[in-house]
Order: sequence, then C-alpha cells, then structure tokens
Amino acid sequence: MNSPNTHLSHDTQTDPDDLENNFVQTPHLNDLVAARLSRRHFMRGGVSAMAMAGLGSVALSACGGGGDDAPATPTPSAGPTEARLGFSAVGKNTADSVQIAAGYTATVIYATGDPITNGVADYANDGTNNDFDVRAGDHHDGIHFFGLNAARTGPDPASVNRGILCMNHENISGTVLFMHPNGPTAGVRPEIEARKEMDAHGVSVIEVSRTTGAFSVNKASNFNRRITASTLVEISGPVRGTKYVKTKYSPGGLAARGTLNNCGHGYTPWGTYLTAEENWAGYFRRNTGDDANRSAKENAALLRNGIRTGRAGNYGWSTVVPAVAGSTEFSRWNITVDTAQPTDGTGDFRNEANTFGYIVEIDPFDPLATPRKRTAMGRRANEGAWGSLPKAGKPLAFYIGCDSRGEYVYKFVTAANWDPADAETGGMRAGTKYLDQGTIYAGKFNADGTGTWVALDMSNPDVAAGLPMTSYNPSGYSFEDLADICVNTRLAAGAAGATRMDRPEWTAVNPANGEIYITMTENPDRGRSGLTGNNIPNPPLDAANPRAWRDTRTDSATAVQQGNVNGHIIRIRETNDDAGATTFRWDIFLFGSQATPDDMSTNDYYQRNVNLSGLSGFNDLSKPDGCWFSKKSGILWIQTDDGSFTDQTNCMLLAAVPGRHGDGGSVDVEVLPNGIQGSTATTPTTVTTYAGRKMTDATFKRFLVAPKGAEITGLSETPDGKVLFINIQHPGEDTGSLAGPFQSNWPGNGAGIAAAYGLGGASARPRSATLMITKNDGGVIGL
Ligand code: FEO
Ligand code: CA
Ligand code: CA
Ligand code: CA
Repeated sequence: MNSPNTHLSHDTQTDPDDLENNFVQTPHLNDLVAARLSRRHFMRGGVSAMAMAGLGSVALSACGGGGDDAPATPTPSAGPTEARLGFSAVGKNTADSVQIAAGYTATVIYATGDPITNGVADYANDGTNNDFDVRAGDHHDGIHFFGLNAARTGPDPASVNRGILCMNHENISGTVLFMHPNGPTAGVRPEIEARKEMDAHGVSVIEVSRTTGAFSVNKASNFNRRITASTLVEISGPVRGTKYVKTKYSPGGLAARGTLNNCGHGYTPWGTYLTAEENWAGYFRRNTGDDANRSAKENAALLRNGIRTGRAGNYGWSTVVPAVAGSTEFSRWNITVDTAQPTDGTGDFRNEANTFGYIVEIDPFDPLATPRKRTAMGRRANEGAWGSLPKAGKPLAFYIGCDSRGEYVYKFVTAANWDPADAETGGMRAGTKYLDQGTIYAGKFNADGTGTWVALDMSNPDVAAGLPMTSYNPSGYSFEDLADICVNTRLAAGAAGATRMDRPEWTAVNPANGEIYITMTENPDRGRSGLTGNNIPNPPLDAANPRAWRDTRTDSATAVQQGNVNGHIIRIRETNDDAGATTFRWDIFLFGSQATPDDMSTNDYYQRNVNLSGLSGFNDLSKPDGCWFSKKSGILWIQTDDGSFTDQTNCMLLAAVPGRHGDGGSVDVEVLPNGIQGSTATTPTTVTTYAGRKMTDATFKRFLVAPKGAEITGLSETPDGKVLFINIQHPGEDTGSLAGPFQSNWPGNGAGIAAAYGLGGASARPRSATLMITKNDGGVIGL
C-alpha cells in the first residue's frame, strides 16, 4: 500500500508500520566512520591485519581493486548477457488510465470481486456481493504463475498456456469504501461487512488458461481456492506449540486462523508459493491499561511491533457481535488480556498477534494441503521471500525485507541442502524439510562496501546477551530460546547489531549471477536530528542509506518532503556466490529521484547529491517497491508505490538492465542539514557510498504508468517471457466518499486496456486488477 500518508484505516489511526518502532541505536554513524577509517588502516597494514579482522577472502580480493575508496569489488565474474530494452519509454502522467509502451497491449484478466467458481454471480461492483470467500480479494499484490501440465494433474514448468496463478490480496485500505453499498458502517461493525472485509484479504489460487487471446479463469477447476483472514493455517517450525502462540482457538499453539496483509511473495524450487505477511500489526485492538496485565517482555515485544495500548484495530473487526453465540471469529482481533482467563493465554486472544507476521507456504497443486506458517524464517513486516539460485548439495537462502522505517534486511538459510529430486513436486513435505529448520540472518552493511550476515540464534553472543535497558526500552530484552527469536525477530536483529535501513521492501535474485536486489522504498526520518513520530531518535545517515534532502510538491505551496524522499535499491553479492555465506559486498544499484528538482536553483547540488543514478525524464521514479527479474529476458522490472512524486506522475513500472555489483564506484554524498530540517547550519555531512553505474536512457526505461491512486505491484511471466502479469493495486484509494466523483473509475472506464472491464462503465467503482501484458508482435516482453 502507499505509505506513509494514504492509509485510510477504518479507525483512522496511523498504521504502526508507518512509524519508526525501532529504538535500537545501532549502528551509529560514528561507528560506521570509525569502521571505514579502521578498514583503511587494515588495508595499509596488509594481509595479516585483514585476516585478524575477520575479513577473510572478501577483503583479500578487494585488495586487488582500486585505492582506499574503491568498492570492495572481487575479481569480476562473467556478467549476464545484457538485455537490450526494445521499446520507447512512456512519459510520466497523471491520467486515470494505464499508459503502456507503444506496441504492447494490457488486458485485465482478474479483478476484485471476480467469481472463482461456477454458480457465483458476476461481480455487480455496487457493494451488494458478499461472498468474497469465492471471489477475488482486494488489493492484488505478489503473484506467481505455476505452469500446469496438459492433463491438469501437476506441474509443468514449461507450460505457457495453462497454469495456476497464486496471488496476494494485501489490504482494503481506501477501497473498503467500494466494498459495501454505502461504504463501511462506523462504530459496531455489522458481521456481514466484517466477514466480507476479512475474506477480501489473503490469497487467490486460480487456474488460468488461454488458447489464443487472453488468459481466463477456469471456474470449474478444483485447484481454485481462496485463503482468507479466517482460513485454518498450521503453525510450523520452532514456534509451533510454544507459549507464544497459545490461544483459546488453539490452546496447544498448533494452528491459527488466516493470513493477513499478504504483500510480497516468493516461490520454492519444490513447487510451492510463499506469501509474506506484512502490515498485520495495525489490525489488533489493545485496550488502554493492557500493559499493566502483561510482563515487561511482552510489553517490549508488542511495542517493538507498534502494537501500543489504546488502539482500536483496523476496521474495528473486534466490535462485531456475532450471530453465533460464543464465536471468537471477531473477538480474536482484540488482544487485550482478560484477567479472568488463564495466564497461559489459552482462554483469550492475548497471543493472537503472535500468530501473524510470518512467511506462509501454500501448495498450489494440492487444494487440500493446509497452508503453513513457516516460523523458522522469522516474524516481521515481511516483504517477500525470494530464493537464491538452487545449487545441488548446498543450502538455499530466502531473502526477506521488513517494510517499516529503520528496519532490517534478512535472509533465512536452510539447514537442509538442496536435493534436485525435490524439484517442482516436493510440495509441503519438502517445505517442512527446508523451511522448518535453518538460520535467520540480518544484514549489517559496513561503511567500506562489505557486509556481514549476523546470525539470529542463541549461539550469537550478541543475541544471547539481549538488548540493554534504555529509555526507549526500559525493561531491556533477554531471549529465552530460538522460538523467542523467531517471534521477536526484529528485537533479535537489533541485539545482533544489524543496520537500520530505509524501509526494505521486495527482494529479487538475478537469475544470471545470483546477485540480490532489495528495494529501500523511502524513509522520511533518515538523516534528521531529533525524534521520530514515536519519539525514537531518527536514524543517522550511513553508507547504505546515504541520502537525505528536502523536496517540494508542485501541487502544494507548503508541503515539504524530507529524508530519503524517493528511495533506492541495494545490490548484494554473496561471498563466493554462496547463499550460505556470512559476508557479502554491496553497492547501490539505483537511487530514486526526480530528473530535476522542482526548484531549479538547487539543480547543481541535486545532481551531485540526490540524482546519483543520472535519471532523466524517461526513467525518473520515486519509491521503488516491487522488483523482479524475468528469467527469460534478464530484465529487472521495478515497480513503484509512491506518494512523493504523485504531483507529477502516477505510479509506474520500469525496466532496467541490471549490470552487476561493482560496475560503478564510490561517491561522496553531501547532505546539507538545512536542506533537511531547517537548521541554520551550512556545513554538509559527507557520506561515502558505493553506487552502481549510472543509468542511461537505453538501460533504464519507464514501461507503464498506472491509473490514479494505484500502486503497481506483483510480477510474474509465462516461461517463454511472452506474457507478463502485473497487478494494479487500489486505483482510486484516495476517493474518500461515495458521493463522487471517484478518484478513479478504472478498469470500468477501459482506459489504456484492451477492453473496459466489468459492470459500471466509465463511472464504475474502481477495482484492483491483474493485467496480462503482451507484445503485439508476439515477442518477449521488453526486448
Ligand atoms: Fe505492502 Fe511494503 O508494501
Ligand atoms: Ca509499499
Ligand atoms: Ca517534488
Ligand atoms: Ca509493497
């Protein structure tokens, strides 16, 4: 969803993940500068000093590079054959339309409310349909195409005309307005409305096929199912059966109801889908005074995820008075301790929030397989879980972002080594083998372009030591066991000294060389002195989050946007290209920015310190969010979820030639204090970072622009690369009132797509939708 300003939660409270909840002040800029200085000394001191510093072969190979300021680049490996972008860039615009590159066609194939089974009425799109457990959910997000064999009995990775789409439905913020005839009822929520809203969350599993023309849903397919915020899900891995997840619903801590806020995704080499639970924290009611009935550790853990007392919970689901007496389907959204119930949580829902925040595995080919929360991978505001390139006999890694200001980058490394015999057909059995045991790591980005994956387990002395008592964390936090770490992964990463990043979003792995790309979507708090909205010190600038500036809007004389306004994309190369490595090198592949600032009198400063990727009008962007590689074309596709550049353009999809780590060099970024927050100081802070090569109009192009109010998210393709699937999420989300006019009428208005979609025509309520993109000459998308 758009962040931070456009959440229209029903209770109007700020979403917890739109605020900094990370009180851990590590690493401090001074540490990073010191680290950089000491590294210079090591380099001058020769090999033995580096070996003593534990830099090993990374630093050794770095020695062969340039001088002190060179990025720690290893001997270059053979890079991928570079894709050539064969289309003309699309201009920025703010029309209520899909604008796609010339020579391409976008066709809607699956929109909010579409039936997934026979016997369900076509979507009226007037708020009257209630059966969302058999309809497409809202806010389409992460998506993956699993090829299906001709007999429709199992996978065929080469299938281009038949497959199973797994798709996330992240939220209903903003668009809940359109879900009911007259918008959502305030106060005590009617059961029918709340149930519909819960069912509009989760995941779609749908069989799609085509002969010629567009893909369509096979409504007779037995594979079709909706997994919603109410579906039975098993808790798997180290947290299963522990005190953290015991509820009245599952006193043994074995199961939970539903999956929530499914944002990014991943898939496994054994043929299953991974859906990532992101901004779940805001859904829970927690009454004022609840802290008095909880332990210091429980309070610290809730606070770390933003679940403060006095919260009503998004959409007020806990207020429902259910028709079936004794049903806990709605009361479970209130996590306030009931002091009349057992202290182990088996008589109420004090632990319900601990059952969300995981990577959830779903088997698209087995409709009877219960989804599993893979708790070994950790708990956070997950943004996808993208797998490393599988190598026989080696562990697999899954790279995971955590989308909140000042949060961390993670990877999960499997304990089991990859066995190609599990490929494609391993199902949930293989999932249990690979995803229930392993090690969670968090990324520490050093100032010299190296990095460390710090292990989050009790064998790491920093984790075992826990977090000290501070004014922001008065009780401190001591970890008891691995389950504690798997539930309170953010706290563990803080104890381990990981680097606070600028809202890590999607992760992607280059199929040509295994390099990892992670979007840092933005951070208004970065580089500012003083306190965040949660009264936590703002994160200082560091090498991996080096920019902060002031930006204005053309649609407001007074609006000022600060910090890292437009985001960036980090690129990681694992040491020895080993997914299990504990060291890596990094650079910044892309710096989001406008091509030129709104105030051209600052253009010289802007080009030297903000537009570090040399963006032009053909490719300037704000807030990269989704990122994904086409295995066929090698193109890195980048999607935006923006609220900062929206005075000049709607969100967009761009295509990039990825290059490789180390293809640029070091850059000194000057950050002006008075360019950030109105200080009178004029001496800039200089931060040295490592930038990828600059973009050109040939290597980075805008391919598509979204309708009004929409973000672009979700990417998948058919194996021949000739069909690209993307999702248009929440067009019209800023509408605010059904009195009209709506911010968007897409796709009913048919603007920019092969055909108008659904009832209502040019005045239709807007809907999230999956686009199937084809090249008019039948070629591979983007080439
Ligand atoms: Fe769901 Fe972080 O975007
Ligand atoms: Ca986002
Ligand atoms: Ca601007
Ligand atoms: Ca997102």
